[in-house]
Amino acid sequence: MRRFHLQPGAALRGRVSVPGDKSVSHRAIMLSAIASGRSRITGFLESADCLATLHAFEAMGVTFVRDGEALEVDGVGRDGLHAPDGPLDLGNSGTSMRLMSGLMAGQRFDSRLVGDASLSRRPMARVIEPLTRMGARIEGQEGGRAPLIIQGGQPLKGIDYTPPVASAQIKSCVLLAGLYADGVTRVTEPGVSRDHTERMLSAFGVIIEREARTLSIVGGQALQAADVAVPADLSSAAFFIVGATIAESSAIVLPGVGINPTRRGVLDILKRMGADIRLHDERIQAGEPVADIEVRSASLKGVDIGGDEVELAIDEFPAIFIAAACAEGTTRLTGAAELRVKESDRIAVMADGLSRLGVDVNVADDGLTIVGNATGPAFGGARIESHDDHRIAMAFAMAALRASAPIEIDDCDFVDTSFPGFVALAAEAGLQIRASEVSE
Ligand code: S3P
Repeated sequence: MRRFHLQPGAALRGRVSVPGDKSVSHRAIMLSAIASGRSRITGFLESADCLATLHAFEAMGVTFVRDGEALEVDGVGRDGLHAPDGPLDLGNSGTSMRLMSGLMAGQRFDSRLVGDASLSRRPMARVIEPLTRMGARIEGQEGGRAPLIIQGGQPLKGIDYTPPVASAQIKSCVLLAGLYADGVTRVTEPGVSRDHTERMLSAFGVIIEREARTLSIVGGQALQAADVAVPADLSSAAFFIVGATIAESSAIVLPGVGINPTRRGVLDILKRMGADIRLHDERIQAGEPVADIEVRSASLKGVDIGGDEVELAIDEFPAIFIAAACAEGTTRLTGAAELRVKESDRIAVMADGLSRLGVDVNVADDGLTIVGNATGPAFGGARIESHDDHRIAMAFAMAALRASAPIEIDDCDFVDTSFPGFVALAAEAGLQIRASEVSE
């Protein structure tokens, strides 16, 4: 088991290049695999989650070749995937399982999607239900959990679907199944969610239309190979953005980070709290807006967070909670029950860790309230449980910048699911962090 050890204090400084975007990397593999021709992906995130997606497509006959910094993918065409020899192991990755269940429902062969203990606890009924309505045959375990057994050769038909929660994974799953369905598939979003799938489908030549909150895709369309330049991941950058904000005398620049408007809630929330965040050289890179992000230390104040803003920052709340604990006054998050079904129950797990560090926190079903401490150390020292959740581990690592005593974080192996090289990069930026292997 990997443990992080953090010494209190210090500042973050310099240029911090975080790795590629996880959501975009998954989609780049999936779409290039089922496109015709050779696609070239640069900036691909070589994390455990994205490699799980890559290996699954390799098992279905797609060839991936590294060419220097780029990953070349020989797409097999929409109907060119082969039956894998065994189950497709998607590890810890909810994005892989939910998006791929849509793709697998349209294949001629059977497939079995499996995951680790955390993924096997996460809700999959939310994709089984619409896919079944489309004509797919999917068997999950009790309570709609993985493994998912998907029967091939089922004709799919287009449906009109409104997911019960705003979720890019559900939306993307249904749209990808829609590629294999007869007729038009329409998804009406109950709230805005990240639109990487729509943007990338267009880049691969698929016609996908949006009218207000409804997306439509006509089945049977073919994908043409495309080049994808993956932006740096805003969700990974968020830990450093919060770190540089809360640590005195900090100044960092994060180059080439994705600032897609359906994803950038963390920037808007932190700015509202008083953070000094500036965007430079805003540009479009392979259909996605990116910028260099400059962050300097700032004094924060507590804010209320809720409504549509929640999904726009859905993965960044562990980091935002750390910022809230360093802010003057109270931060109140509501309408965020989805946080309870992420890689861990992020409301319960963050509240537990914050309490151990001496922070005044109150838990509700759909959020929490944090009373911050804007002057001096905001955190004491403690050993924290990350509950095998990468973002919990990285968020608490940043708390050390405003702690009065050392912090240790257990079960940090999962940081590699989204951010390989986190410890080295954070240490280079100034965080006093080291990792050790301990027996459990
Ligand atoms: C993701 C969508 C979000 C997010 C996840 C990645 C995606 O999940 O939490 O880390 O790549 O589509 P939901 O769609 O369940 O909100």
